[in-house]
Amino acid sequence: MSEGSRIPGFYKLGLAERRAVISRRAHIELAELEHALEAGGLDTATADKVVENVLGIYGLPFGVALNVRVNGVDRLVPMVVEEPSVIAAASNAARMIRQSGGFRAEVVESLMIGQVQITNVEHPAEAVARLEAAAARLLALATKAVPNLVARGGGPRAIDVRDLGQRCIVLHVLVDCRDAMGANLVNTIAEALGPITAEIAGGTLGLRILSNLCDRRRVHATCRVHARELVSSPRSSATRAPGSNAAGSESSAELDGLEVIDAIVSASRFAELDPYRAATHNKGIMNGIDAVVLATGNDFRAVEAGAHAYAARSGRYAPLALWRRDGEDLVGELELPLSLGIVGGTLRVHPTARLALKILGVTSADELAMTAASVGLASNLSALRALATEGIQRGHMSLHARSVASAAGALGDEVELIAARIAGEGLITVEAAERALTQLRGAR
Ligand code: MEV
Repeated sequence: MSEGSRIPGFYKLGLAERRAVISRRAHIELAELEHALEAGGLDTATADKVVENVLGIYGLPFGVALNVRVNGVDRLVPMVVEEPSVIAAASNAARMIRQSGGFRAEVVESLMIGQVQITNVEHPAEAVARLEAAAARLLALATKAVPNLVARGGGPRAIDVRDLGQRCIVLHVLVDCRDAMGANLVNTIAEALGPITAEIAGGTLGLRILSNLCDRRRVHATCRVHARELVSSPRSSATRAPGSNAAGSESSAELDGLEVIDAIVSASRFAELDPYRAATHNKGIMNGIDAVVLATGNDFRAVEAGAHAYAARSGRYAPLALWRRDGEDLVGELELPLSLGIVGGTLRVHPTARLALKILGVTSADELAMTAASVGLASNLSALRALATEGIQRGHMSLHARSVASAAGALGDEVELIAARIAGEGLITVEAAERALTQLRGAR
């Protein structure tokens, strides 16, 4: 486990220094870390065995979110993402949240769902009753199909049957997949149960596959931030409610923070009222979650499918995270299905995904899910705070300026200096950065 996820000034270090710091904090040999990160970890020969028609390897930046503390444990959180500011935003929000103790998270149930579809059922209600009565037999058969999982303490746990109408019924088998994401395990079980299910139901066997709406494997994360952490600078008139100056004994800094809380709560309500906003609100959450999912070699399509299906579970697409005011605190709450693994799948072949798990220091899939959800909540907070105050373009532009400065050839401390200059001038182009760089080097 990492000693601490708070590393002030980390972003100002050069790449080699950053690697050295993480290697020390996470107790990983520097050579191992470098080997896993060079060229994105995968070699072409291995990639050629992973998927079909391979031509090469596609790289993405691998960074680390700082300041994350989940259930009292500090975590350095690897993130793979191409969008500037996602990692900085998550780290920044996590720093504010850590002042109030960090994230609290729990996993609810941890059961995956396998589906067996039966069509052309003559008497669906009777078929459902017969399958329910045969649950113990079906579970025994399912258990036999996954001996290794059972040896690891997991396995099938329950059977659920539903009449979908139109002479179609579906049997759900609920499976504890332990530290695996579980797609292969669940599909194996669903296929093993297929023929007997069709026979008992008296219908035609249809699909046998897991459901990505894994709402029996949910993660719940909460956090609290004091108003003083949220003070926005510069102060935005857009967030100031008329007459809000008259707040008695509160200091102006606290008042500003309370205004930011109210603006974030209003942004959260907007997402509750409007699916168009809820989709973008949830995208901001998934910015953080997907980046952790990718870094750890997990299936981001499965996670996305589950998250958005869950967001629409009431029949109306809704935000996955909500924000409320509690006195001088802002309180956030997120819940979503999250099926992640720390064994099998991509981890078998991908050294960088294995490195990501080592850096995280998680020892179970549940710990990984709780950390990913916490980073999602942090990403959401950061986006809402920016949107509710100065807007997101300012922050985006200053990060964009750094990458433009690098593209113009700036090195080391030149990057920050050139970025600050072109952002300040409002002309963020490679040409402007090159001109500024020539001047800077001439003056040194
Ligand atoms: C951009 O990647 C994510 C945001 O649009 C999220 C949001 O609007 O809440 C900033």
